[in-house]
Amino acid sequence: GGEAHVEDFAFSFEGPFGTWDQNQLQRGLKVYTEVCSACHGLRYVPLRDLKALGYSEEQVIAYSANFEVFDAELDDFRPAIPTDHFPAVTSAGAPDLSMMAKARAGFHGPYGLGINQMFKGMGGPEYIASLLSGYTGEEKEEAGSILYENHAFPGGWISMAPPLYGEDVDFDDGHSNDLHHEAQDLAAFLMWTAEPKLMARREAGFIGVFFLVVLTALLYLVNKRLWAPIK
Ligand code: HEM
Repeated sequence: GGEAHVEDFAFSFEGPFGTWDQNQLQRGLKVYTEVCSACHGLRYVPLRDLKALGYSEEQVIAYSANFEVFDAELDDFRPAIPTDHFPAVTSAGAPDLSMMAKARAGFHGPYGLGINQMFKGMGGPEYIASLLSGYTGEEKEEAGSILYENHAFPGGWISMAPPLYGEDVDFDDGHSNDLHHEAQDLAAFLMWTAEPKLMARREAGFIGVFFLVVLTALLYLVNKRLWAPIK
């Protein structure tokens, strides 16, 4: 048991002007592919969207072919193509990770007011990164299954064995692959899968506010002019 602890990681996409770090998303994809995909699916993510991570059409085709998907028309499995989604993975009883960064909150309180979230954000990616680096090494058996102590998991004991120890994958850009960095890169990638249009949404917001400011100025001037003869 004990208080769940979530570390406030600094992500490039935070704040009103934050942007994705494309290299980081590519590293996170690599961690997902080589480690997490054994148990966790990304069933809501179309493989073609990987082009947004800077991959070419050919690279996305080659990457897709690593997965098998069930084709209802063929009534059989076949290698995936970019128009398919990442497969769902259900064999290990592990939850789908597509939306996980938006489904979990890392920051709460005080007293359920959510003030923390106003300053630090919801903390979904922080929760995931903290979970992956939050194992204490303690284990216990309960009702026939093994539970692993984890500082970030609510309740303190999770049935997922530590998936990362550090140096689990080699990054193509030479970035550090210690546990902390792997966890952070993976969490950034899952933020992208959960909210791929984050930057476009922010941009639309800025444009909207800009137009409202212009409109306010115009209405003020029109108002002055209309009432000028009467005053
Ligand atoms: C649960 C991430 C690898 C099996 C979870 C959860 C996350 C996660 C975010 C949800 C925790 C929650 O409910 O708040 C990851 C990542 C992995 C990874 C990022 C790769 C780095 C694996 C692997 C396995 C696995 C390889 C199987 C061998 C499970 C299971 C659960 C789980 C069974 C449910 C745990 C419970 O509710 O007690 N994982 N996972 N995961 N994962 Fe993983």
